[in-house]
Amino acid sequence: MEVVLYPDPRLRRRNEPVERFDAELERLAAAMFEAMYRTKGVGLAAPQVGVNLRLLVYNPHGDPARKDAEQVLCNPRVLTRVKEREWGEEGCLSFPSIYAKIERPNGIRLEAQDLKGQPFTLELAGWDARIFQHELDHLDAILFIDRMTPSDRVRLKAQLDELVDQYKASQART
Ligand code: CO
Repeated sequence: MEVVLYPDPRLRRRNEPVERFDAELERLAAAMFEAMYRTKGVGLAAPQVGVNLRLLVYNPHGDPARKDAEQVLCNPRVLTRVKEREWGEEGCLSFPSIYAKIERPNGIRLEAQDLKGQPFTLELAGWDARIFQHELDHLDAILFIDRMTPSDRVRLKAQLDELVDQYKASQART
């Protein structure tokens, strides 16, 4: 399973709710973890593997040996956000080698369903809250470049243009 790179239009499509909690969904989540670990990520949203569903996986350790820290969230929804906001460096598997500081609420309470469709709530703070909010943005077709400061967008323009050129070249080959 390949990670879809910016500016692939699948990253900007509408993502549909997960409705079938079956073996196929379990296989998809497992393949997403595999792709995430392979590319050294800590989180991955389904549109990033070309599947436009409201599904995300993450492991704040990014370590396949830490299965205990794996989270699969189907149809996640934010219940509350803390007022306090914090800047922190983020990368994205759909933007290789691009990093920027993004400001986000420092804590969040959310509701989601597991792979069986069972609802659960989760309270996240700090790094975990940051990963989750980055991945949730993907489900709303929002990319971290949309949240960058204007000066970072200027600083990263050449790298972003390069990704666009690579995408165009890859389309021309198919
Ligand atoms: Co991302």
